[in-house]
Amino acid sequence: MTDSGAGSRADRGEWRGWRAATRAALYGTGGPGGRGGFYRRSEGPAGHFRTSVHASPLFADAVARLLCRVDEALGRPEELDFVDMAAGRGELVTGVLAALPAEVAARTRAYAVEVADRPEGLDHRIEWLSETPKGITGLLFANEWLDNVPVEVAEVDSAGVPRLVLVRADGAERLGEPVSGAEAQWLARWWPLPAEEGLRAEIGLPRDTAWASAVSSVARGLAVAVDYAHTADARPPFGTLTGFREGRETAPVPDGSCDITAHVALDACAEAGAGESGARSLTQRTALHVLGLTGARPPLALASTDPAAYVRALASAGEAAELTAPGGLGDFGWLLQPVGIPHPLG
Ligand SMILES: C[S@@+](CC[C@H](N)C(=O)[O-])C[C@H]1O[C@@H](n2cnc3c(N)ncnc32)[C@H](O)[C@@H]1O
Repeated sequence: MTDSGAGSRADRGEWRGWRAATRAALYGTGGPGGRGGFYRRSEGPAGHFRTSVHASPLFADAVARLLCRVDEALGRPEELDFVDMAAGRGELVTGVLAALPAEVAARTRAYAVEVADRPEGLDHRIEWLSETPKGITGLLFANEWLDNVPVEVAEVDSAGVPRLVLVRADGAERLGEPVSGAEAQWLARWWPLPAEEGLRAEIGLPRDTAWASAVSSVARGLAVAVDYAHTADARPPFGTLTGFREGRETAPVPDGSCDITAHVALDACAEAGAGESGARSLTQRTALHVLGLTGARPPLALASTDPAAYVRALASAGEAAELTAPGGLGDFGWLLQPVGIPHPLG
């Protein structure tokens, strides 16, 4: 979708880097018909795509078990924090509160951190914030947040030089200035681009900064980021920038009509957020298995002794299989950063 001419049409807006364009499209207060950016609108993310949170309540159950492990490691504090970072409509924090043993739930202070407004009817125990609270003692859990932290895109030009990609509100692109400064350093360290015209990379620096800031808000406990990710040994040669609208993948057009997302260089975030204990990365499949989600089918004998229980267990096994599926949600990365406690997943 590259526009070769310099004469852009004024009605299609200005040329901007992908970071500024995405920020306005997702979180701006303008947007089509003055309705606000994609994530500020009332329908919420669930209207456009399915995260693990929407796929099954088993996910919130597993996160509740993780919170209980963190609680144990903290010595069962009088007040235990659970922060649903980038909470969407608060679905995860709601599910976690419902899944906790009553004694732990009674000590839990639940927070949802979101750009969008508090949804009507949300459990009164959940505090709705626009910024991460400081001094967290407990678990901060960020499911599919970092992929929505806007980033610049770089593309190699015909002379082999990585340049910033500029984009218009209609999605047309052209190349801008050569990548320089901290962004060039980030590329050199985390995503070096061979001098081959057309190769692209997403410059993950703002995600590293966002993650380091989230980790620094945990006084004692654990920070977890879950996202579709890649590592330095296997970066996608043309990047992963894409759009989602009404459940379908679409061209990433920064006009507020669709989600704009790119996979996360989770290894770079790990280094940025790492404290004394060091970060650990697992696949979602492994993390959920450790947290007791197996996806094993129920024994066939149950079908005759208790058919209703058999059907329920079968449905549950199907959902667990989706959450742990190779090639799907199971391949998501879990980045775990303990602060002042041992690694709670062993
Ligand atoms: C892909 S949705 C994920 C929602 C939810 N965590 C889930 O897994 O279903 C990303 C959410 O992150 C929110 N978000 C992005 N940046 C944020 C920030 N800096 N602070 C709070 N929320 C943010 C968006 O508004 C959006 O609701």
